[in-house]
Amino acid sequence: MNVGIDLIHFATADYYLGLDTFAAEKNIDVDKFYIGIGQEKMSIAPPDEDVVTLSAKAAAPILAQIDSDEITAVLFATESGVDQSKSAGVFMHGLLNLANRCRVIEFKHACYSGAAALQMATTMVRANPKEKILVIAADIAKYDVDTSGEATQGSGAVAMLITENPRIINIEPGSGYFTEDVMDFWRPNHRTTALVDGKYSTKVYLNSLKQTWDHFTEVTEKSFADIDYFCYHIPFTKMAEKAHKTLIRRAKATVNDVDFDAQTLPGQLYNRIIGNSYSASLFIGFISLLDNVDADISNKRVSFFSYGSGCVAEFFTGVMQPGYQSVLMTNNHRTQIMNRAPLSYTEYLAFYHQPDSTDENITFEHNNRGAYRLAGIQDYKRYYEKTASET
Ligand code: HMG
Repeated sequence: MNVGIDLIHFATADYYLGLDTFAAEKNIDVDKFYIGIGQEKMSIAPPDEDVVTLSAKAAAPILAQIDSDEITAVLFATESGVDQSKSAGVFMHGLLNLANRCRVIEFKHACYSGAAALQMATTMVRANPKEKILVIAADIAKYDVDTSGEATQGSGAVAMLITENPRIINIEPGSGYFTEDVMDFWRPNHRTTALVDGKYSTKVYLNSLKQTWDHFTEVTEKSFADIDYFCYHIPFTKMAEKAHKTLIRRAKATVNDVDFDAQTLPGQLYNRIIGNSYSASLFIGFISLLDNVDADISNKRVSFFSYGSGCVAEFFTGVMQPGYQSVLMTNNHRTQIMNRAPLSYTEYLAFYHQPDSTDENITFEHNNRGAYRLAGIQDYKRYYEKTASET
């Protein structure tokens, strides 16, 4: 049975900070960012944007194309959760008027949770082909000011409809996975920003790639030459470049098997100008491949490497379905990216220093230009609203 992604769409914040502006402020050579880590811009969320509003923006164009009452479950992956008990997906379920006959749950393990939700969804559909599952991967990447991670922030949400006979990609059974209890990146409950041992995290990422690859090849008996396009978790695009070099060596790929730029570059273009979006990043990379590859990639095999610090990782593949181009939402993606407003460093800091989330009552200034926004917090309860710009 073919099961996989039937529709896919992403949303990002309405503002960005250019790494040229960032470099000038910090008095650092901009090439450290443009070349050294391979990033140009970071999507910055204002205080009235969170993973709920981003995910509603990501999912709405998918729901507009189907009978949303048919959604049987929402699997919501995030490490930027808005409540310690209630899942962000239930707030989104309310905003989007989804049916009550629907299960909603939040998945967490750093950037890995999006892949976990996707794998769980495909398993549920294989068990019962009547299931139509909305998988969300949404995050706002935030580090302390003046730390090594600050240049690798960003934000985004991906919505994916998982069904039988998918129109975009059939996710193949069989994957390689790996878990190791390490402290490369973490966010204690009291913090809104992550802590990271940056250089160490890149080593653990690459080791996890090798381990998942070895497991993947044992389980599936596939080789490097069986894969046409490679999507990696992208905290910054240079990491994907290092990952592909590492994989080529580990897989002992021959010169004929490797076309480095064609295999990886189209999948990096959006991430380079959005920044890290943690659980969403791998799937924004996949959308970037779909929207930017010149060739018709029907029947081609795409690999996915998901890495979540801490750490859990998985390597799996899918096969592109003929006619996939007709359901892509490329214009929506490009328009959103193009319409973002640039921020000065001072404006970025104003968004960065959000109202104290431990306050009982907050009314948010209206900066989110999308169709859904966080209006306020009253008696510690979050209130969302649909705005006039909703289509
Ligand atoms: P850093 O100390 O700011 O940068 O940290 P650097 O000094 O190492 O420079 C970076 C690269 O730029 C180096 O190249 C320099 O040579 C080069 P490399 O040795 O890596 O090939 N460079 C220049 N190139 C051209 N012109 C110049 C120039 N100057 C320097 N003028 C670090 C970099 C990645 C550590 C930092 O950005 C960081 O801490 N990032 C956050 C952590 C992270 O993203 N880790 C990635 C792996 S873990 C992961 O992906 C999981 C994650 O998404 C979280 C989750 O799972 O939830 C983070």
